[in-house]
Amino acid sequence: MDVFEAIKTRRSIRKYKSTPVDGKTLELVLEAARWAPSWHNRQCWRFIVVRDSKTKDKLAATLIAVSADRPNPAAEAIRNAPVAIVACAELGKSGYSAREPMELITDKGDWFMFDVALAMQNLTLAAHSLGLGTVHVGAFDAEKAATILGVPEGICVVSMTPLGYPDEEPPLRPRKELSEIVFYDKFGVE
Ligand SMILES: Cc1cc2nc3c(=O)[nH]c(=O)nc-3n(C[C@H](O)[C@H](O)[C@H](O)COP(=O)(O)O)c2cc1C
Repeated sequence: MDVFEAIKTRRSIRKYKSTPVDGKTLELVLEAARWAPSWHNRQCWRFIVVRDSKTKDKLAATLIAVSADRPNPAAEAIRNAPVAIVACAELGKSGYSAREPMELITDKGDWFMFDVALAMQNLTLAAHSLGLGTVHVGAFDAEKAATILGVPEGICVVSMTPLGYPDEEPPLRPRKELSEIVFYDKFGVE
């Protein structure tokens, strides 16, 4: 599968088979994350591979409902997929100056979310190319997740994804047309 095909056919998977993911395949997926670009090559990301079902149940319970009448649709996926990968970031590295004293050098704060997102998108595309499903999960209580996983101070839990073989083939979700999102020379100019 080439990159463009992987980008265009990946979709969020929220139903999984119980088939385990073997160690070699898991390593390939993590390797894709490892090779993502990052601010000053600081690689602030850290990944926790969760296979223990009790820990997955606890993580699933940290997910936040998207609206009052609808639980987070990814909670079952975190519970049922054979693996969950939790992406964390070391704070105070991304977006900071190259040398001591470490200072933020843009007006956009700590760039940890950006770096972790790049790594996680590499991971989800690589997983898809290997026939595995994922879904980026952001709506969860990060402090509770950190406590469950023993994440130390200074490291933020950013996102997670279930990982396993899909047990559904949901339709591709629509995207805005290029004409709605791309401007030329000035914002708003099509
Ligand atoms: C930053 C981010 C956070 C997300 N958080 C959740 C989430 O908490 N629960 C969930 O079910 N899906 C979550 N999603 C998945 C999106 O709903 C999904 O990517 C979007 O609807 C487009 O569908 P597709 O991934 O199938 O193309 C998240 C996606 C992103 C990029």
